[in-house]
Amino acid sequence: MLDKSIFYLFLLGVIYSLMACESTSSSNNDKVTNLTTMTTYTEAHRPQFHFSPAANWMNDPNGMVYDDGEYHLFYQYYPDSTVWGPMHWGHAISRDLVHWEHLPIALYPDSLGYIFSGSAVIDWKNTSGLGENNQPPMIAIFTHHDIAGERAGTKDFQYQSIAYSNDRGRSWTKYAGNPVIPNPGIKDFRDPKVIWHEPTQRWIMVFAVYDKVQIYTSPNLLDWTYASEFGIPGDTRLWECPDLFPLQVTGTDETKWVLLISIQKQAPNGGTATGYFIGDFDGRTFRADYREQYWADYGTDNYAMVTWSDIPATDGRRLALGWMSNWQYAQEVPTEKWRSAMTLPRSLHLFPAEDGYRLRSLPVAELAALEQSKTTLSPQAYTSLTTIVKPTEQTLYRLQVTFAKPEIGTVGLRFSNPAGEYLDITYAADSMAYFIDRRAAGRADFNENFAAKHRGEIDYQSDAIVWDIYLDHASVELFADEGQCVMTDIFFPQSPFNQIEVIAEGTTAELLSGQIIPLNRIW
Ligand code: FRU
Repeated sequence: MLDKSIFYLFLLGVIYSLMACESTSSSNNDKVTNLTTMTTYTEAHRPQFHFSPAANWMNDPNGMVYDDGEYHLFYQYYPDSTVWGPMHWGHAISRDLVHWEHLPIALYPDSLGYIFSGSAVIDWKNTSGLGENNQPPMIAIFTHHDIAGERAGTKDFQYQSIAYSNDRGRSWTKYAGNPVIPNPGIKDFRDPKVIWHEPTQRWIMVFAVYDKVQIYTSPNLLDWTYASEFGIPGDTRLWECPDLFPLQVTGTDETKWVLLISIQKQAPNGGTATGYFIGDFDGRTFRADYREQYWADYGTDNYAMVTWSDIPATDGRRLALGWMSNWQYAQEVPTEKWRSAMTLPRSLHLFPAEDGYRLRSLPVAELAALEQSKTTLSPQAYTSLTTIVKPTEQTLYRLQVTFAKPEIGTVGLRFSNPAGEYLDITYAADSMAYFIDRRAAGRADFNENFAAKHRGEIDYQSDAIVWDIYLDHASVELFADEGQCVMTDIFFPQSPFNQIEVIAEGTTAELLSGQIIPLNRIW
C-alpha cells in the first residue's frame, strides 16, 4: 500500500515536471521568436555583419554541420539572461555563410543536466539506426552537465550524450540510452567533437579532459571505446572544445592532422584563446610533431573555435568559426539586450614553415557578397598621421593594404570616431610584430583586463606587411600575411568608427597598394 502511494506520488511528480518542462520550452521559444522579430539589429554595439543572438547570453559555437544547402550553427545559449546560466543549444542556419536565420532553441536542459558544448554530424550510413524513411539522421553529440552533482561536490557530473533529428535539424529527440559515455570519475570531461574516419570505418570522438584530450572510437555513435589520450607533460592549463581533422598542406599532396584546442588562461594576450597542434593520427592515437602548441588567433576574442562537419567534398574547405569574446570579461561587456557574437567564418589552411607546419585562416570568399564598390589607393609615402577616409556615414569596411616593412618606427592604420576614440592596428619595427591597441577605443571600465594593446607574432618575416581587415561596429579581424597571423578583437566605442588614417611614427609609411571596400550589413 505504502509502496503504491509512493509510486503514484512519484508518477505525479514526473508528469508535473514533464509539463513544466514543456511549458518552459514553448514559452522560451515564443520568447526567442518574439525577440527575434522585435529587434532590428541596430542597438549600440550591435554587430552588423557577424552572427549574434537577438537577445540574451551566447557562448561557444556548437554542432556546426552542413546539410543539404544549410550551414547549421548551434550555440551555447541561456535564453533567460544576459549572463551565463543553464545551457541550451540555440540554433541558426545560413545558406551562404553570410546571412543568418534564427531557428527555435534546439536542445533544452533535462534531467541529466545542462546541454554543454559539442558537435553534430550527418550519419550517412545510418550506423546509429536512428534514421527514418531511408534518410540519414543528423546527430548531435554534447556534454550533459549535471549541476546538482557539481554543487554536491561530486566529480562525475559531466558525460557525453547524443540527440537526433530526422527533419533537417528542426526538431530533436534525446537518445533514450544517454549518456553514451558515462563519467569515469573525472571532473572536467567535456566538449565532444566527432568525425567519421574512413580508413578505419569508425566514428572518432575527441573531448577535453582537464589538461588533455581523450579519443574514443565507435562503429555506430552509440557504443564508444576508449582509444588514447593526448596531452603535454607538465601542461596543467584547462583545455576545452577540441577539434581533430585532416588538412592537406597547401601546394602538396601531404595531409597532416590538426588538433584545435581552446585554452582557459595564459593565452598570449591574456584570458582564453584557441590554439592548435599539428601531427598525425592513425585512427586511434594523435601524435604531435612538436610539444609546443601554436595560436590560431593572437587577438583576445576568438575562443572555442571549431570546424563545420560534412562540408561537401566538391567544396573541400575546412571551415571554422569561434566565439568572439573572452571569459575574462564576456559577462560584463556593455551590450544591453544580448551578449556576444561569433567571428566571421574562416577557411583553414596548412603551410610549411621553417620548422614544421602552421595554420593559416582566411575569411571565407562568400563575404564578397557584402562588398560595395571599391576605392583603390595609389601607392604613396606617408610621413605623419594622414586621413585616407574622411568621417562618413559608412562604418563597415573591408580594407586590404600592403605596406613596405619599415626598418624603424611604426606604421599602420587608425580607425576613429567624432568622440575622439580610436583603435590602432600597427606593425612596430623594433618588435617585428603586429599590434592591435584598443586602449582608446571606447568603454573599458567594465573590466580591468579589457583596455590593452595586443601583440600578434609573425612566423614568417617578409618584406611587406599584407593586411586584410574586417571592421564591424564592435569588432575588428586582422588577417595578416595571407592569414599567417590573425587577430580578433572586440571594442565598444560611443559611436562606430567612421574615419580611417594611416599611421607613420618615426618612419615613412610606404603604402604599396590598397583597397577600401565598404560593406553592407546582413540583418
Ligand atoms: C567553453 C566552455 C565549454 C563548456 C561550455 C559551457 O567556453 O566552458 O568547455 O562546454 O563553455 O557553456
